[in-house]
Amino acid sequence: MKAEAFEVMKNRRAIRKFKAEQITDEELNAVLEAGTYAPTGAGTQAVQIVAVQSPEYRDRVAALNAAVMGKDMDPYYGAPTIVLIFETEDGFTHGFDGPSVACNIVNAAYAAGLGSCWIHRCKQMFEMEEGKALLKEWGLPETLIGSCSVALGYADCEHPAAKPRKEGYIVRV
Ligand SMILES: Cc1cc2nc3c(=O)[nH]c(=O)nc-3n(C[C@H](O)[C@H](O)[C@H](O)COP(=O)(O)O)c2cc1C
Repeated sequence: MKAEAFEVMKNRRAIRKFKAEQITDEELNAVLEAGTYAPTGAGTQAVQIVAVQSPEYRDRVAALNAAVMGKDMDPYYGAPTIVLIFETEDGFTHGFDGPSVACNIVNAAYAAGLGSCWIHRCKQMFEMEEGKALLKEWGLPETLIGSCSVALGYADCEHPAAKPRKEGYIVRV
C-alpha cells in the first residue's frame, strides 16, 4: 500500500477561503496533468479542461456561476484559479467522465499543497448565452457540455475536519 496516496484521498477537504496570491505554473501544470490521467469511458478522453487565471475571465466565470445560483456572492470563494471541466460531444459516457477528472484534480491539488473546492452548476453556466460567448472567445466549440468546476488556490483557513463517515456506507457481501 502506498500510504501517501491514501492519506491524500482521506485528508483532502473542500476549502472555502483562498488567498489572493496566484498559484505557480508548476503547481497548476501538475494538477492539470493529473486530471488528464483520470479514467474516462473506453479511454476516450472526451473531456476538455480549461484553466481560468486571467482576472477578467475568472470574474466573468464567477459571475456566471452566481447568476445560475441566483445569489450575489463569489461561488469560488476568492480562489485566483478556476478549473472548468467540460465533456465533449463525441464521448459516450456523459456525466461520468467529467467528475472522474474532477476527482483527480481535487486530490492532486491537495497533494500539491493547494486548496480546492468542487463547485457545481457548470452545466447550466455553459448552456447560457454568456457561457457560450466565453467558449467562443476562448476559441472552443460551443457544443462543449459543462460538467464540473474547481476553485483552486492557497488555502486561507484552517484545514477543515472531515465529518464522520455514515453508518452502513459500505456493505460487503
Ligand atoms: C458534485 C459536487 C458539487 C459540489 N458543489 C459545491 C458548490 O457548489 N459549492 C461548494 O461550496 N461546495 C461544493 N461541493 C463540495 C462539497 O460540499 C464537499 O465536497 C462536501 O461538503 C464534503 O466536504 P469535503 O470535500 O471537505 O470532504 C461539491 C461537491 C461535489 C462532489
